[in-house]
Amino acid sequence: MRLLSIETSCDESAISLVEIDKAQDNFSVLADITISQIETHIPYGGVFPALAKREHAKNLPIIFQEIATRYSEEVITLDEEKRRALEEIFQREKGLAETLISLFSDDNFKLPHIDAIAVTNGPGLSPALWTGVNFARAISLLTGAPIYPTNHMEGHISSILLKENYLKEEQALFPLDSFSFPMLALLISGGHTQLVLVKGWNNYFLIGETLDDAVGEAFDKVARMLGMEYPGGPKISARAKEGRVNEEVSLPRPMIHSDDYRFSFSGLKTAVRYLIENLKEKYGELSDQLIADIALEFEESVTEVLVKKTQKAIEAFSARGLIIAGGVSANERIVSAFQELTQEEGIELFTPQRFLCGDNALMIATSAFLKIRDGESGLPAGSQVEVDAHAGFPPLSLPRS
Ligand code: KG4
Ligand code: ZN
Repeated sequence: MRLLSIETSCDESAISLVEIDKAQDNFSVLADITISQIETHIPYGGVFPALAKREHAKNLPIIFQEIATRYSEEVITLDEEKRRALEEIFQREKGLAETLISLFSDDNFKLPHIDAIAVTNGPGLSPALWTGVNFARAISLLTGAPIYPTNHMEGHISSILLKENYLKEEQALFPLDSFSFPMLALLISGGHTQLVLVKGWNNYFLIGETLDDAVGEAFDKVARMLGMEYPGGPKISARAKEGRVNEEVSLPRPMIHSDDYRFSFSGLKTAVRYLIENLKEKYGELSDQLIADIALEFEESVTEVLVKKTQKAIEAFSARGLIIAGGVSANERIVSAFQELTQEEGIELFTPQRFLCGDNALMIATSAFLKIRDGESGLPAGSQVEVDAHAGFPPLSLPRS
């Protein structure tokens, strides 16, 4: 069974094509292409939603055409009815309708065979999500394949299932029955900081999240204050490696002792701003060493808070494994602190392969695969798919005492 997956929730345009082997309870990756828009957004210091949408509309047909060149299998006839349907789907993306109509009108164009389509429908930036969802709807209409609307954060959780050589392996996923539940997932990205109880695959409950900024957002904002370009996470982390412990550079550990699983990073960001102002007053411009010291102290503060709260949750829920996923899971210091923690707790740590930490379409394929193996049937071909920019996990209802 062939599954096409599409991800456009933020600033990566991505499509993958996988072949599901139901007997093996696994899949192989036929194609996986991501076009990053990071360069486009650098001048804005963050992701600019209208621009992200425009770039997705430009990138998706390019990626799809590349995959169709590799798997040229099925002729499609674009009759008047289908042409009108495409125009209707892309009412707000007229350029995309024209590109697809001209692509599909080419007599030599053949589509890959597709049995199901997964698409991210939230959470994320609304305009960006709509482009992916409409694109999925168009392909679904042409192929007759059902649509599986997929949650982006479930995608990040599922990303840990992909093996290191996922592109080459006949079975791209670790055996699903090799995991013990419940697990805990700490999802850290540019838009989210969440602790999720994973009772089983497809069985997720929110136990706590940030009250304000997400971890990645805090990294990006602090990086900007220190004169680094977007996305700041990797830059802070590189500079922190040269940092020294400096008693003049000290930051709070927000909510570290609060009696819950909530986080807050906006105060930390403000504390960095004051710290920079004070240091500038004293020394004039910040030296490279001071910048590195601030980067280190900021990374330490974030790491300590994440570790402490996660440890509390591991113990309270008797978690048997810990998943760390989302863009910030590429941070080496954070991952190594969690390696120590999980060793101490005697449980396993699961992180995505390096290339799958950021947004990608394979994590969406994996998440939809988990639904398909659970017997979910997806929406009928061509259905309208609702976008939910703030889609979340159901909160865990704690037993009343
Ligand atoms: O998951 P992701 O690619 O997109 C969202 O869904 O948000 O996460 C992107 C975030 C950005 O804020 C970026 O600065 C952060 O992940 N990030 C990092 C590192 N690499 C990426 N933060 C800290 N350290 C890193 N090495
Ligand atoms: Zn993400």
